[in-house]
Amino acid sequence: MICLGIEGTAHTISVGIVDKVDEKCKILSHISRTYKPEGGGIHPREAANHHAKHIPSIIEESIEKANIDVKEIDMIGFSIGPGLGPCLRTAATSARTLALLLKKPIVGVNHCIAHLEIGRALTKCNDPVLLYVSGGNTQVIAFMRGRYRVFGETLDIGIGNCLDKFGREIGLSFPAGPKIEKLAKKGNKYISLPYSVKGMDVSFSGILTACIHLLKKERIEDICYSLQETCFSMLAEVTERAMAHTEKEEVLLSGGVACNERLKEIIKKMAQERNAKFFSPPNELLVDNGVMIAWTALLMYASGIEHKIEETNIKQNYRTDEVEIKWRN
Ligand code: ATP
Ligand code: FE2
Repeated sequence: MICLGIEGTAHTISVGIVDKVDEKCKILSHISRTYKPEGGGIHPREAANHHAKHIPSIIEESIEKANIDVKEIDMIGFSIGPGLGPCLRTAATSARTLALLLKKPIVGVNHCIAHLEIGRALTKCNDPVLLYVSGGNTQVIAFMRGRYRVFGETLDIGIGNCLDKFGREIGLSFPAGPKIEKLAKKGNKYISLPYSVKGMDVSFSGILTACIHLLKKERIEDICYSLQETCFSMLAEVTERAMAHTEKEEVLLSGGVACNERLKEIIKKMAQERNAKFFSPPNELLVDNGVMIAWTALLMYASGIEHKIEETNIKQNYRTDEVEIKWRN
């Protein structure tokens, strides 16, 4: 069964075409375009315009690259939420149009759950605790009693957002995460920052402010190093707590910030110390992508879920634990 999936919750518009063969995920094609704000943060309307401009051509290109006839597409999946309203609406409109045109079923997918499902499909993990770290999201998620539940999350901004905002202060263009990673490698002095874990939750805005205050006093490399070490240790702590609580023995790392080698190292070490296994999908599927949407839509459809067009309204604040997970037991 072949699904064309459209992702468009934030910066990235992406189309993935996936074939489900013997319960396995076979990626036929994957094309993404990312909106890069010129200065300042993401402007939802501008990002949506970017998506609207690119979506027709990437749909065409991805079908061509998958080497299939458009008639071979069995269903359409799209990211229904959570995310930025204008971006979500743009992706949803294209998905509806395609589904109506091709007379095929449509399924709206929760973006956070899609990160988890693609990890389960492409790595050898089965029942992990997911640490999902991107620009807008920072959540620790695991499956329990029929739902994916959030065991911890950020109380303010996402970790990626924290890195990008600090980057902007020091003149780095978006996305700043990878550039901060490079600078941090040259740092060696740990400067104490406000480590803020509250129960199972984390918060980053205090650390961001503290780093900005350090700018004229310390080397930029040392600030980047300390920023990463502090934030990543906090993430490791809450992830470990969720693993202990749920008694799960696998940890899956996903989201754009998971591209960071130091974060991978810290989470891997935490897992090894508790005899658990560490997994992370390849970098191009850590960041937002249409493949994870297509794959999750296929799982949902096979479990009997299909949305009527009037049920495809976007859900800006779609919560992870709202979704009934019929495809797992
Ligand atoms: P969403 O929150 O909806 O998932 P997003 O647009 O933030 O959306 P991603 O593509 O998953 O989605 O992540 C982008 C983020 O990842 C940016 O904040 C970027 O700075 C960060 N990032 C990318 N590479 C690295 C890296 N090597 N180290 C740290 N952060 C990184
Ligand atoms: Fe994401």
